[in-house]
Amino acid sequence: MIRRVVFNQKGGVGKTTIVCNLAAIAASRGLRTLVIDLDTQGNATQYLLGGKAGKADRTIGDFFESTLGFSLQTPPFVTYATNTPYENLDVVASDPRLEDLQVKLEAKQKVQKLRQALDKLKGYDAVFIDTPPALNFYSRSALIAANRCLIPFDCDEFARQALYTLLDNLQEIRADHNDGLEIEGIVVNQFQGRAKLPARVVAELREEGQPVLEQTLSSSVRVKESHERHMPMIQLDPSHRVTQEYVALYDALD
Ligand SMILES: Nc1ncnc2c1ncn2[C@@H]1O[C@H](COP(=O)(O)OP(=O)(O)O)[C@@H](O)[C@H]1O
Ligand SMILES: [Mg+2]
Repeated sequence: MIRRVVFNQKGGVGKTTIVCNLAAIAASRGLRTLVIDLDTQGNATQYLLGGKAGKADRTIGDFFESTLGFSLQTPPFVTYATNTPYENLDVVASDPRLEDLQVKLEAKQKVQKLRQALDKLKGYDAVFIDTPPALNFYSRSALIAANRCLIPFDCDEFARQALYTLLDNLQEIRADHNDGLEIEGIVVNQFQGRAKLPARVVAELREEGQPVLEQTLSSSVRVKESHERHMPMIQLDPSHRVTQEYVALYDALD
């Protein structure tokens, strides 16, 4: 089972958009797909569930809370999933309680719990994990639970310094906790190939031997519309240029 985490500790780089669009493509191809929303802000949950986002019966907060109890039998992870309007696509919804739960989960060393739950998960072919913009308990849990990691990058000079820190952090997590984590590569989001600075930054990263993927994602207002209408691009506009870029990225990773 593919368990892909999309992570960058910087916000606004496209994590949520990439998770939801790649997951929607997987689902459209018949893979039973689960998105796990580990960000308290719940943007992936909003994107996929729209008005029903706050009404999920069970959430990721319920899952983590259950790991704090004394019962030996925690419910199977599938019980925390909610159906989206899209065939084959489910989401484990975010929960504002993640904020308060974090300290307890850390104190009780529950960072392996997501991995253990996913090890036992049946009924899905692909899992996509959306992460908060921080290297905190939840993103660590995701990086330990996943077998693949995709890094979105928005190509500015400040983000570049943060990228080196991120790559170091990932190597440390691999060495200490998860040697099965494959770094799939860096995907440049909202790439402006004609502008000088982004093109130079990308060229320099490649020269340094950083794993920058050939496939890039352009910027389009259609993506914002896709969020507003709670429809992934493959549903909203399958022939759109950006949709095709997501498909190309999906195929390159597969
Ligand atoms: N390819 C794109 N074109 C246009 N806007 C985009 C694109 N990718 C992301 N965005 C917008 O950028 C903002 C941040 O994206 P998001 O996926 O939420 O990033 P993150 O999860 O890393 O914080 C959102 O408003 C989103 O709509
Ligand atoms: Mg996000």
